[in-house]
Amino acid sequence: MSKSPDPLQSQPTIKAIVAMAENRVIGANGTLPWHLPGDLKFFKQTTMGGVLVMGRKTFDSIGRPLPGRETIVISRTMQSIPGIRVVDGIEAVLEWQTDKTVWVVGGAEIYRQMLPFCSELLVTRVSLSVAGDTFFPSFEDCFERVGLLAETPQFRIEHYRRTQDLPPALPK
Ligand SMILES: NC(=O)c1ccc[n+]([C@@H]2O[C@H](COP(=O)([O-])OP(=O)(O)OC[C@H]3O[C@@H](n4cnc5c(N)ncnc54)[C@H](OP(=O)(O)O)[C@@H]3O)[C@@H](O)[C@H]2O)c1
Repeated sequence: MSKSPDPLQSQPTIKAIVAMAENRVIGANGTLPWHLPGDLKFFKQTTMGGVLVMGRKTFDSIGRPLPGRETIVISRTMQSIPGIRVVDGIEAVLEWQTDKTVWVVGGAEIYRQMLPFCSELLVTRVSLSVAGDTFFPSFEDCFERVGLLAETPQFRIEHYRRTQDLPPALPK
């Protein structure tokens, strides 16, 4: 039986996960400017079983749906392909009805639009300052650090929680 949308249903739990350099770089030439297997393992463990939301350029850089997770790609140009749900704006994500955690996984365009709706943020601080063309937006005004989840010579992983209430509904 198909469920009709419940207008009173709240938004899903939305969190963001990112790896950024000391100079806030997150990408270069459509890819990650580092190779950190330990961080990729953390990303996999953390997001497993959840829903991944990404921009079309980030999907292009990954090139396939990641196993064990639903993938939603935000795009105005991409055609649906097996294993991927394509939506044409963030509204469809905010209205998504799911019990799973929705993970915003980039890139910068999608972080910028979705961070206002995220309750938590996991930031891998990469111990590098690298050349790049894609940067993580400012988030420090709206989130506070609540934990340090891992620390290695190459990176540390910080847990942030939103300090202000989430918006009650989509801005019109
Ligand atoms: N370090 C990290 O943790 C991390 C994580 C993710 C990505 N990255 C890096 O970030 C870079 C990509 O980021 P990016 O900011 O250039 O691109 P992006 O956010 O991945 O994708 C941008 C695309 O998303 C679609 N889009 C964005 N907003 C939309 C909206 N409101 N409605 C409909 N479609 C929308 C458009 O696709 P169409 O053009 O198809 O319409 C747009 O061209 C890459 O270098 C990647 O490796 C780094």
